[in-house]
Amino acid sequence: MRRPISKVASGLALLLATAACTGATSEPVVSTAIPEPMVSPILTGPEALDTLTYAQPQVARVTHVALDLDLDFGTKAIGGTATLDIAAGEDADELVLDSNGLQITAVTDAAGQPLYFHTGDGTGETGKGLPVSIAIGKEAGSPRRIVITYAAAPDAAALQWLTPEQTAGKVHPFLFSQGQAILNRTWIPTQDSPGIRQTWEARITAPKPLDVVMSGVVQGEPEDLGDGRRAFSFVMDKPVPPYLIAIAAGDIDFRAIGPRTGVWAEPSVLPRAYAEVADTEEMVVAAEALYGEYRWGRYDMIILPPAFPYGGMENPVMTFLTPTFIAGDRSNNGLVAHELAHSWSGNLVTNAVWGDSWLNEGVTTYFENRIVEAVYGKKRAEQEAALMYANIQEVLAEVGADAPGTALATDGEYQLGSAIAYDKGAFFLRTVERITGRERFDAWLRQWFDNHAFQPATSEMFYEDMMANLVAGDAEAEALMLRDWIFAPGLPGNVAKPDPAAFAEVDAAVSEYKASGHMPAAYAGWTAAEQMRFLDNLPAELSTDQLSALDQALGLSQTGNNEILFLWLEMALENRYEPAVAQAEEFLARVGRAKFVRPLFAVLWNEGEWGRPIAMRIYAKTRDSYHAVTRAGVDRVLAGE
Ligand code: BES
Ligand code: ZN
Repeated sequence: MRRPISKVASGLALLLATAACTGATSEPVVSTAIPEPMVSPILTGPEALDTLTYAQPQVARVTHVALDLDLDFGTKAIGGTATLDIAAGEDADELVLDSNGLQITAVTDAAGQPLYFHTGDGTGETGKGLPVSIAIGKEAGSPRRIVITYAAAPDAAALQWLTPEQTAGKVHPFLFSQGQAILNRTWIPTQDSPGIRQTWEARITAPKPLDVVMSGVVQGEPEDLGDGRRAFSFVMDKPVPPYLIAIAAGDIDFRAIGPRTGVWAEPSVLPRAYAEVADTEEMVVAAEALYGEYRWGRYDMIILPPAFPYGGMENPVMTFLTPTFIAGDRSNNGLVAHELAHSWSGNLVTNAVWGDSWLNEGVTTYFENRIVEAVYGKKRAEQEAALMYANIQEVLAEVGADAPGTALATDGEYQLGSAIAYDKGAFFLRTVERITGRERFDAWLRQWFDNHAFQPATSEMFYEDMMANLVAGDAEAEALMLRDWIFAPGLPGNVAKPDPAAFAEVDAAVSEYKASGHMPAAYAGWTAAEQMRFLDNLPAELSTDQLSALDQALGLSQTGNNEILFLWLEMALENRYEPAVAQAEEFLARVGRAKFVRPLFAVLWNEGEWGRPIAMRIYAKTRDSYHAVTRAGVDRVLAGE
């Protein structure tokens, strides 16, 4: 298999980056010696306190993780050793890690001396704390290092072990991980908090002929171990929050796009996958022109089997993607722009706590739209923005504009789906951009990324930074309504609304359909966003005849775009349209993406005596094929929660 080989960062570049990263606390030293690993600061303010980790990073923190793991597809086992480098104060006796179901057989110091450890209290998603005594070895001085021998549980929630039947090729098994938000503690014993950044490396063995990819830079060619297995090595020399450590293994091939971009997929999927992401190099160029250098070296993607529970996941140097975004016309490739944008918002500057996840997702959604505008033009960008705005309106209408879950910064409270963190977050930045002007705003956002590169951030810091480095005077501060945007529920009155012209033609067609039942003749020639706008705005109640006529005229059940197919199935099931049940069943058996699967089960559940038996029948067959994330979501729906 041809793999992209990347250069190891030069010692000097790394040293300078280290200096930039730790600010005034470390002097840049010009030397050709082996560079110290980059260590990112930890935030100490109360708003940066992560309640979802057991770690106490002020006492002792992990700075580097070295994994040496074997994959066993027969037993769904992943295990081996994790060697952790620790930074700790003089008097620190204990290092607390996060663990969810890890089976730990030994913890030793670097010399092999056993260290006392125990599993702490805790229940539910956060798992348990894993305190390890690090008192011994103190005399030796830092750095301290411990070695954990362990295995993940076979049902580790971060991992999905796919049978050959769940792949396109049907011959080999497949494995992938999903770390965000707090799932990686089910397979990696470390401090699993977005505010505790760590460099990492890994050596992974897997049976031939499977290839392994990770969210780190591959080191050379795989090593043939002579026993039917190969070892793959990876390095991430930039400190990342541990939710960004990811692995996938399967029968996959690579195809280059540009000099630093490429895509992995199962061989039979690769041609379609490649065609869909062929604009990626251009997107990276556009993103760099907007907000500064792409700092991660390569930008590769892997198209996973359809069980992947998300649209995409921004794993550094290796974005993970669902195959369900492939439409044949690149109309859903805003997804790639989105995951790429996370290389700045999220991966470079990271929410310190998950209650501030709009800092990752909202800033990224804004940035995504700017990439789409740069690569595909204003019309498409404005249409996509108008769809987002409609999402926000829909949620606010549903829960009320003063519902606390509609604030961007949530204090760790429940937030109302993606419309708030993503779409309201994006409209916040869009509004600021309109008020300050694009030039000033872009310069500000670029410096935000530069000055907080490889560091965690909070809502409060974002606000303070805007006040210090963007806002010009009291009048502008008042016009911006920054604190309302970040901390108050609802949508501030200064919101920069989407251009009403974006969907003028479609909205007219919706009115006409509602008035006369007339089908839009232009539908087939519309953009995907236009088609979605039309379907989104049809009357909630449609008769069997109307649904059948819509399907006939617009080819809804025949669409090659899964976003549109989803909208069709949703509206069909909402109206108890029998002819769509078989297709819904086929879709739910084929696709594990939570965004599609959960709402379709929710619709069936809501359709009481008609829908619930259908839901139960289908779920009995499909549940085992879903990732833990999707399964948990559907379990809640079908428990009536
Ligand atoms: N980082 C998210 C995925 C995620 C969010 C995983 C929350 C776990 C918890 C990713 O960047 C994302 O937003 N994916 C979207 C894509 C979209 C908005 C274009 C998705 O999966 O649908
Ligand atoms: Zn995202």
